[in-house]
Amino acid sequence: MKAVTWQGKRDVRVEEVPDPRIEQPTDAIIRVTSSGLCGSDLHLYETLGPFMGQGDVLGHEPMGIVEEVGPEAGDLAVGDRVVIPFQISCGRCWMCERGLFTQCEVTQVRDQGMGAALFGFSKLYGEVPGGQAELLRVPQAQFMPIKVPHGPADERFLFLSDVLPTAWQSVEYADTPEGGTLLVLGLGPIGDMACRIALRRGLRVIGVDRVSERLERVGARGAEVIDLREVDDIGEEVRSRTAGRGADAVIDAVGMEAHGSPVAEMGQKLFNALPKKLSAGIMSKAGLDRMTAIYTAIDAVRRGGTISLIGVYGGQTDPMPMLTLFDKQIQLRMGQANVRRWSDDIMPLLLDDADPLGTEQFATHQVPLADAPGAYERFQKKQDGTIKVVFKP
Ligand SMILES: NC(=O)c1ccc[n+]([C@@H]2O[C@H](COP(=O)([O-])OP(=O)(O)OC[C@H]3O[C@@H](n4cnc5c(N)ncnc54)[C@H](O)[C@@H]3O)[C@@H](O)[C@H]2O)c1
Ligand SMILES: [Zn+2]
Ligand SMILES: [Zn+2]
Repeated sequence: MKAVTWQGKRDVRVEEVPDPRIEQPTDAIIRVTSSGLCGSDLHLYETLGPFMGQGDVLGHEPMGIVEEVGPEAGDLAVGDRVVIPFQISCGRCWMCERGLFTQCEVTQVRDQGMGAALFGFSKLYGEVPGGQAELLRVPQAQFMPIKVPHGPADERFLFLSDVLPTAWQSVEYADTPEGGTLLVLGLGPIGDMACRIALRRGLRVIGVDRVSERLERVGARGAEVIDLREVDDIGEEVRSRTAGRGADAVIDAVGMEAHGSPVAEMGQKLFNALPKKLSAGIMSKAGLDRMTAIYTAIDAVRRGGTISLIGVYGGQTDPMPMLTLFDKQIQLRMGQANVRRWSDDIMPLLLDDADPLGTEQFATHQVPLADAPGAYERFQKKQDGTIKVVFKP
């Protein structure tokens, strides 16, 4: 089959790889019909390279049609239309029973000290072949696949794999009081969808980014926006709009590659030039994240407010302003999204033909797998109006 493979920093290629097979009785194989490209893939493309293996198949936002099932794949049947969560979870261990599917004790990557395995996401997360491919082996198929009805376009349901539950969890964790103000940093697919969900809940939403079409898209749905290119001090700007206090809650939907802190950027360049083995060690021990967004969040949240971190960070010694965090009495909540914890809550919005979250029009680009190298580059550089890419294998 054809698959998008990681070959090196900023180097992905579409290659011929062996078809996946059923390996465990609980496995299924799906024929992928749509597969998203995510901001998390950009971390692999750029920063997390030291943890990647040459030829690793990328992608963690797939959906498709079940082609084959193992003998213990539950009630999953050939021909079912399914969306596959980005994390692999068993659905019945102690963590899964508590809705903490990204901490699943059956799939935890213990030799790396990490949580549940993820599709297409480096050695840190189990090096499981991903979904930007024609076929995908789905472990834990007795639990994981989300069955969706035949009929509507793939895009109506596709984002259940990641964007929707991730944005949903970020809004839940932000826990903005009724009538309150939520600040969303970063208006990529995750921040954009978080804004849509929060607006639907009747919150006042302020979105921040530095890319015109991303600001416009969120503005058109009713959020206030702040353009990073025009405002130096986001905290001051937010306080000026909130009676001097700051936002009740802040979602950081940017993560470790934030723009706007040249010193850390320099550190990261030096780090990227190190030999791979050395840099993998340093990356997991030392903090080399660009911390601009989280620092902005700490500044812009009001005293006693909540910060919901959904953007991914990877450092171990990132300096945090403990004095300010403690004195402002800030609550910090974070983590990979527990997809199946939220999918049933989201489903009614997707089955509603009015499409209240605008999922069918959410992707800006539908491209064949063969175009993956260009699509990754355009998504990273934010060219050609690229906000969300969906591959059509
Ligand atoms: N926790 C999870 O389960 C989970 C799941 C999916 C994605 N993510 C993470 O969420 C983040 C966003 O993903 P995405 O797909 O929307 O990616 P993206 O890269 O398209 O979006 C990031 C946005 O942040 C903006 N930005 C950069 N620096 C900024 C700053 N200092 N202040 C405000 N905005 C800034 C960029 O212009 C961009 O629009 C990534 O870190 C991704 O890894 C987490
Ligand atoms: Zn994703
Ligand atoms: Zn489990």
